[in-house]
Amino acid sequence: MSHDESRLMTGIEGAEDRDLDRTLRPRTMKEYIGQTRMKENLQVFIRAARERKEPLDHILLYGPPGLGKTTIAYVIAHEIGLPIKATSGPALEKSGDLVALLTSMEEGGLLFIDEIHRLSPTLEEILYQAMEDYRLDITIGQGVGGRVVKLDLPPFTLLGASTRIGLLTAPLRDRFGIVHHLDFYSQEDLARILQRAARILGVKLEAGGADEIARRSRGTPRIANRLLRRVRDFAQVEEDGRITSALAELYLERLEVDRYGLDETDRRLLMTIHEKFEGGPVGLNTLAAAIGEETDTLEEIYEPYLLQIGFLDRTSRGRMITRRARTHLKISPTRDGGTPQSPLF
Ligand code: ADE
Repeated sequence: MSHDESRLMTGIEGAEDRDLDRTLRPRTMKEYIGQTRMKENLQVFIRAARERKEPLDHILLYGPPGLGKTTIAYVIAHEIGLPIKATSGPALEKSGDLVALLTSMEEGGLLFIDEIHRLSPTLEEILYQAMEDYRLDITIGQGVGGRVVKLDLPPFTLLGASTRIGLLTAPLRDRFGIVHHLDFYSQEDLARILQRAARILGVKLEAGGADEIARRSRGTPRIANRLLRRVRDFAQVEEDGRITSALAELYLERLEVDRYGLDETDRRLLMTIHEKFEGGPVGLNTLAAAIGEETDTLEEIYEPYLLQIGFLDRTSRGRMITRRARTHLKISPTRDGGTPQSPLF
């Protein structure tokens, strides 16, 4: 698989894809498909805060990439009718960056911080103080000449997004009044998202075509929309433009996206556990080293979906391949590093 093709699956995207993603992004709660429980709850909290004329409580959204954390942040801003400022943990380097943002917030406005688990400890401390009482204590100067200046901030709502809630410190996590986990989407919801995207893009997508793409999209709208655009390219250049179930299947196979949406890295990961570690358990770091991927990438991008579809087990002693995964990959349990066991044992 080429680098570009593997990017199809990981959610790492180019400029054109990013622009298109923005075009497809729903702007209102009504347009937003799926995550029903989260949507219903948020609508109540937004309404209650509006009736009390108070800022909305701070919200933490977490879950695997591509499930719409950024999208829902913008939807919330739209529903409240107040501006949103967006940044990310890695983009905020110095205390001054964060202080400048916080002091320029509008009353009741929203501050979106993506990848909030990657904020430095110093910035986290500034942030959770600001969240708690809309105030900043800034130290100016050092030693005997140093003094603390207290700054009042306009009340604001922090929207934090994270793929790794476990990396957030407890004091920061505890200051979010509303915490939502985004789940993988059902195939039905993904098919509806695809139909909506096809309407916006002017693509002829049959119901069967939408189902086929949905099945192979790892429960992830960002991947579904990306696969739709690639299949559309094939449909346009090599066919008559209409995406049927058969056409979607043919070209998704050509993109090496299998029936479960697994890509080459997923298959390599599972085959490595099977062949090199006798099916597991194997520690995540050892596994990452064996397949030449970053531990973080495995944990954030690959593992959640493989766990969700029951292809991987996470035990206290490490990761194990499941019978279900073996059936899909057409391999049988091994006893001695790669030799298939006789069906008689
Ligand atoms: N496009 C991407 N995610 C979406 C969602 N949840 N609802 C509608 N369109 C989307």
